[in-house]
Amino acid sequence: MARHLITSALPYINGIKHLGNMVGSMLPADVYSRYLRQRGHEVLYICATDEHGTPAELAAKEQGVPVDEFCASAHDAQKAVYDGFALAFDYFGRSSSPQNTEITQHFARRLHENGFIEERAIRQVYSPADGRFLPDRYVEGTCPHCGYDKARGDQCENCTRVLDPTDLIEPRSAISGSTDLEVRETKHLFLLQSKLQHEVEEWVARHEEEWPQLAASIARKWLNEGLHDRAITRDLDWGVPVPADTWPDLAAEGKVFYVWFDAPIEYIGATKEWADQDPENRDWKSWWYDADATVRYTEFMAKDNVPFHTVMFPATELGVREPWKKVDYVKAFNWLTYYGGKFSTSQKRGVFTDQALDILPADYWRYFLIANAPESDDSSFTWEHFTATVNKDLADTLGNFVNRVLSFSKKRFGEAVPAGGEPGEAETRLGTEIATLLAEYEAQMEALQFRKAAAALRALWSAGNSYLEEKAPWLEIKTDKDGAALTLRTAMNLIHLYAVVSEPFIPGTAAAMRQAFSLEEDTATWITPDEARALTTVAAGTPFTVPPVLFAKLTDDDLDAYKERFGGEPQPA
Ligand code: MF3
Ligand code: ZN
Repeated sequence: MARHLITSALPYINGIKHLGNMVGSMLPADVYSRYLRQRGHEVLYICATDEHGTPAELAAKEQGVPVDEFCASAHDAQKAVYDGFALAFDYFGRSSSPQNTEITQHFARRLHENGFIEERAIRQVYSPADGRFLPDRYVEGTCPHCGYDKARGDQCENCTRVLDPTDLIEPRSAISGSTDLEVRETKHLFLLQSKLQHEVEEWVARHEEEWPQLAASIARKWLNEGLHDRAITRDLDWGVPVPADTWPDLAAEGKVFYVWFDAPIEYIGATKEWADQDPENRDWKSWWYDADATVRYTEFMAKDNVPFHTVMFPATELGVREPWKKVDYVKAFNWLTYYGGKFSTSQKRGVFTDQALDILPADYWRYFLIANAPESDDSSFTWEHFTATVNKDLADTLGNFVNRVLSFSKKRFGEAVPAGGEPGEAETRLGTEIATLLAEYEAQMEALQFRKAAAALRALWSAGNSYLEEKAPWLEIKTDKDGAALTLRTAMNLIHLYAVVSEPFIPGTAAAMRQAFSLEEDTATWITPDEARALTTVAAGTPFTVPPVLFAKLTDDDLDAYKERFGGEPQPA
């Protein structure tokens, strides 16, 4: 059995995430983790909030609260939503933790000792009124290209042109509004990535064949453009401080590391946060440091994150010259769009994860999102598609099957799985079909092909419906009571099988389905294709109850209400 280390890209602290963020990182990582756990592997699924950087400082300022307080409550708010989505992290940490500070500073010291960090003087905007250097996006002014008067020093939001703060007309401080700005020389730490280009190239070459096309091609593109030396410090109050023992001058000036330097290190930091909660029983280093060959590390992220994970973070890890675990497999996603356009917070278009849970329980979203994950291409969320999928796959094919079988059996045979009848040709055929589909489902899960895995799962559900239509126990019972008992018992075994193998997608519903049967032990322990073939895991005589309707059917009125609340088709530009 392998040991699987799994991480999903750390969500930025500011703001509740929309469905596109969810389907491109945390949700598939959870589905994969759950599957591997069921197969008996040791799994450690780690995530955290990405708390440093200017967006956090600005969001806190906007709310008028200290940034550490802002982050603490924003972290809890995000965690509550992820609990609602039934994301079973082994740990959900915070990049502002002392553990991350310690490991980030350690990485920086080692990179310095190995000649990969250099101090360089650069010219930067200084604001005497604020008593500090201003990061690019803290300088505001008029865009020289389009005349927009709230352009930021890094980019104009109006015309999207990339800017330098010195390009702005009538620049002012975004903090105090002061126009008394100077350009001063100041020192920053630079990570000499150019020196690591060759090593990273060799490392990528050893892995890219196994990576999906999307991740491999992005990594290649960045390597071909060449790795550039990069400033890894910033003038901010909030972040991992530059360690004073190594860089006393910069530390005295209050410099902190750039958020993209400390964020990926938090994968390790959060693992240590996890271990520190139970140090007797948890060993974070066995996952990350000099890890043996049985640790397999899989990362989940949207495509804009790929360069950082396939090139820059590996460069950092290589430059540290210590045996830190590097990623084995990078699962990258395209974009989920909203009616073909961008999810937009400011235009109130799209669905945020907290709102989604207000409307319907997690399993509706989990199934729909994974079945339509933007894997090989972007995919579009529409309310029409969502309601149709819920009705067809969840309410009819799965939910209705479960209720129909259990209610009918209860009515005719009482509250235990009925005995009688000998499996015949139809059951043999069904068993073979189920074993084949289950093997296909397993293969797609192992290959992290989520859409195809969902299709195989749906086919398993459909096979039960076809069998039921073919055998028609409601007619059979009139002439052959034992035959009807066999049909219903076989169908109940399918329900139990579905309850086990649907767990990664719809854990809440799967548990309710398992609990319908009073089995000695309620486990989601995997059922293999060979075990499934016989369809006899639930014996005759096992008591059962009929669960409440598993998935509600969504009506046209529901559809109209969703479109009204969230906006439908975007207006043509
Ligand atoms: N917060 C980043 C984003 O949402 C992702 C950070 S991933 C990490 O794009 F590895 F750097 F943490
Ligand atoms: Zn502009």
